[in-house]
Amino acid sequence: MTNKKKIHIDYSEFSSIEELNPEDKNLLNIARKNLSNAYAPYSEFKVSAALRLENEEIILGTNQENAAYPSGLCAERVAVFYASANFPKVAFTALAITAQNISDTLKNPVFPCGSCRQVILEYEILQQKPIRFILSGTDGPVIIIDGVKNLLPFSFNSSSLK
Ligand code: THU
Repeated sequence: MTNKKKIHIDYSEFSSIEELNPEDKNLLNIARKNLSNAYAPYSEFKVSAALRLENEEIILGTNQENAAYPSGLCAERVAVFYASANFPKVAFTALAITAQNISDTLKNPVFPCGSCRQVILEYEILQQKPIRFILSGTDGPVIIIDGVKNLLPFSFNSSSLK
């Protein structure tokens, strides 16, 4: 017998950064300001991530491309790996992600790629607290998602390995 099921995903949409609470607004502004530090000469698509840690440290990441294309890394993983390498066991509270294209703008929110979702999930499971995603372009609407599980509802994780 078929048992049809549905998955429910919670997220909020705000029409601009001005509607955010001061903490979220600050983190998104920091991410937007750091877009110019992306190294994206090949795609010309700059991505910036600002990660807030539980100890109030803010870790910045931008995408880092390479002439050997697959050797590059997304902004999110640059930030998250740096945070884990330098502040092990300090929980991640929020991650603001923004991007701009060749015209230096982007009107719509950007979402982390599948590989970054998988990497972030690892740390969210470890810390047992949801990470808040603040997603937006260089301006325009902002999407807030609490918990990477809302971005990756079916996931592979270490429980399968046991
Ligand atoms: N990129 C990110 O930095 N984060 C994402 O979540 C999606 C894509 C980067 C990788 C590459 O440098 C450029 O955007 C174009 O794909």
